[in-house]
Parts: sequence; C-alpha cells; structure tokens
Amino acid sequence: MHKQKLSFELTIFNGLAELPKEMRVLMSEAVAARKNAYAPYSHFQVGAAVLLENGKIVIGNNQENASYPSGLCAERVAVFQAGALYPGVPITSVAITATSKNHVVDTPAAPCGNCRQAILEYENRQKKPITLYLMGETGKVIQCNAVADILPLGFDSSFLR
Ligand code: THU
Repeated sequence: MHKQKLSFELTIFNGLAELPKEMRVLMSEAVAARKNAYAPYSHFQVGAAVLLENGKIVIGNNQENASYPSGLCAERVAVFQAGALYPGVPITSVAITATSKNHVVDTPAAPCGNCRQAILEYENRQKKPITLYLMGETGKVIQCNAVADILPLGFDSSFLR
C-alpha cells in the first residue's frame, strides 16, 4: 500500500477591487442576480453568473420551494440555463456570491456538493477547466482553478460503460 496526498491551489483576492476587470464585471452580475433570489425560507440569497467562451453571461439565483428539496441552488439554475441557451459553448468561469437577511456573510460562499457535481459534468464534457470565483456579500474573493480541484475523487461518466 501507499499513501497519496492531494493538493490544489487557490488564489485569494483581498476584495473585489483586486479582481481583474472581467471578473469584477462577472461578480457584479452575480451580486445583481442574488437580489432576485427567491429565498423566503432560508433568507439566504445566492447569485451566480456564468461566463461563456462566446462572451455571454448567464445568471441564476436560488429558487426555494415550500417543499424544501424541490428548490434549486443558484449555481445549478445558472449553469443549466447556460446549457439550455448555449448548448456546447464552453463555460470559462462562474462567479458565486451570497447574502443573508439574518447575518453578514463575510466568508466566500462555496458551492454545495450537488452543485460541484453538476458543474463538474460541464467541466468534463468541455475538457477545459472552469474557474470559480467565490464571495460572500463582502470581503475576500477566492479563485478556484477547476471544479475537479474541489471535488476530488468525483463520480463521472467513465463509470457508466
Ligand atoms: N444555496 C445555493 O443557492 N447554493 C449553494 O451552493 C448552497 C445553498 C441555497 C439553497 C437554499 O435556497 C439556500 O441557499 C440555503 O441552503
């Protein structure tokens, strides 16, 4: 037997002002999107903005439901919408931000496991990494270079033969 260590690199920006302009624009779209979240149960509003290789930006926000599991996270709303509108166009980056009516979200909002799995499918299909930019409502922004980095040992289509 042997042991294996996995590691990956993050880039931490001290705030929005430090981001490259294109990503600042993308994050500002995510901030605008989060304002339209339908989150009457959690009061936790998430916005996501997807940048495509053709330059288009597609947004999403969380859509909750009185039957809680029937709701959907912002990231999947955005990524599925991008897939529906621009099939086959690779995704370059996804900006994610969250705010809450109950407290100040000063920690970067990381996608849940289901959203990581869903975005990984797109990353694998396009064979190009998707960069993620994660932010709370204020504070630092974390850049992840690939979804696979934050979902190691992921399940993918190679198992289904
Ligand atoms: N939520 C997202 O939109 N994205 C995530 O990655 C985590 C959670 C939403 C789902 C639900 O509407 C609320 O945040 C609280 O879980």
